[in-house]
Amino acid sequence: MKLLVANGPNLNLTGTREPQIYGSDTLAVINSQLQQNFPALKFEFFQTNSEGDLIDKIQSAEGEGCDGVVLNAGALSHYSYALRDAIAALKKPVVEVHLSQVFAREEFRRTSVISEVCRGTVTGFGKHSYFAAVFALNGILGK
Ligand code: DQA
Repeated sequence: MKLLVANGPNLNLTGTREPQIYGSDTLAVINSQLQQNFPALKFEFFQTNSEGDLIDKIQSAEGEGCDGVVLNAGALSHYSYALRDAIAALKKPVVEVHLSQVFAREEFRRTSVISEVCRGTVTGFGKHSYFAAVFALNGILGK
């Protein structure tokens, strides 16, 4: 089974950006711990600060052999209808992930325009949100 782990705007700064909110592990560390925790799975790791590039990646996920997607879309989660449409068009399950507990933060973060078209959401567990999302996808895909 192959999973795409996709991260959107500003997630490249994870580890140094507001570590009290997002934790002090870098994205590279989180990605390598994902691979260590799930040695039987194939991962593709992707990060971009561009909405269009993230949409292109979601569109090509199935063609690139991905069985599911773990997606931290950052702030795009709160307003990008274009990203939502791309997720809706994908025939593979997408799990929405957030490092922080978005419901305990600013009002604008309590809305996600992508949740409805995602298979599920994991929010608030720091890097463990990614681990939980992979665990869940692995479970539902059952491969
Ligand atoms: C985030 C939460 C978003 O509100 C924020 O814009 C991010 C990161 C998280 O992982 O907690 O960039 O998705």
